[in-house]
Amino acid sequence: FDNIRPKIEKHIREVKDFPKKGINFRDIMPLFTNPQLVNELCVVIADHVRHSVGHVDSVAGLEARGFLIGPLVAIQLGVPFVPIRKKGKLPGAVIEASYVKEYGEDIVEVQEGAIKNGEIVFLIDDLLATGGTLRAATDLVVKAGGKVGEAFVIIELAPLNGRAKLTDVKLTTLISYD
Ligand code: PRP
Ligand code: HPA
Repeated sequence: FDNIRPKIEKHIREVKDFPKKGINFRDIMPLFTNPQLVNELCVVIADHVRHSVGHVDSVAGLEARGFLIGPLVAIQLGVPFVPIRKKGKLPGAVIEASYVKEYGEDIVEVQEGAIKNGEIVFLIDDLLATGGTLRAATDLVVKAGGKVGEAFVIIELAPLNGRAKLTDVKLTTLISYD
C-alpha cells in the first residue's frame, strides 16, 4: 500500500465540527472525483486480498460508505458483494447483531442466505472509529456461519482504539490518524 497511501491521503478532507461540534470528520468523498485512483485503490485492495488473505467467498460492505468501495473490490475478485445494513432496511428474512453506540444501541442486519456456512468473508468499510460497527459486522458474519478473513478500512482513528474491540480479527487499515 506504500505507493497508493499518499495519493489517497491527498483525497481525504477534514471537516471540523461535523456532524457536531468538536468532531473532526474525515471525508472520503473527494476520492470519488478521481475515478482512476478509485480503480487503482480497488485493484490494490484485491491484490492484497489475493496475496495476504487468500481465498474469500464474498466481500461484505457496511452501509453507507462501505457500499462505495466494497462492490468494486468484489468485482475485481469476481466474488459476490454482501450488503450489511442498519436495521429495517433489508427486505425478507435477516440475521441481526447489535452494538453499543455513544447513545444507546444499534443493530446491523444481513439477508439470510447471503453468507453460507463455512464461507470466508472480506469485510470493508471507510473508517474505524470506536470499532462498534465492525464488531457487530464480525458477529453477524459468525452468526451466519461464516468467518471474517480480514476486516479492511481506509481510515483508522487511532485514539478511539476501535482495534481493541477486534482482537480476534485480522485488521488492515490504510491510513491512521492520531
Ligand atoms: C461511520 C463509518 C463507519 C462507522 C465507524 O458510519 O462510516 O461505518 O461510523 O464508527 P465506529 O467504529 O465507532 O462504529 P456512520 O455510523 O456515520 O453511518 P453512515 O455510514 O450510514 O453515515
Ligand atoms: N468520518 C466518517 N465517519 C465517521 C467519522 C469520520 O471522521 N467518525 C466517526 N464516523
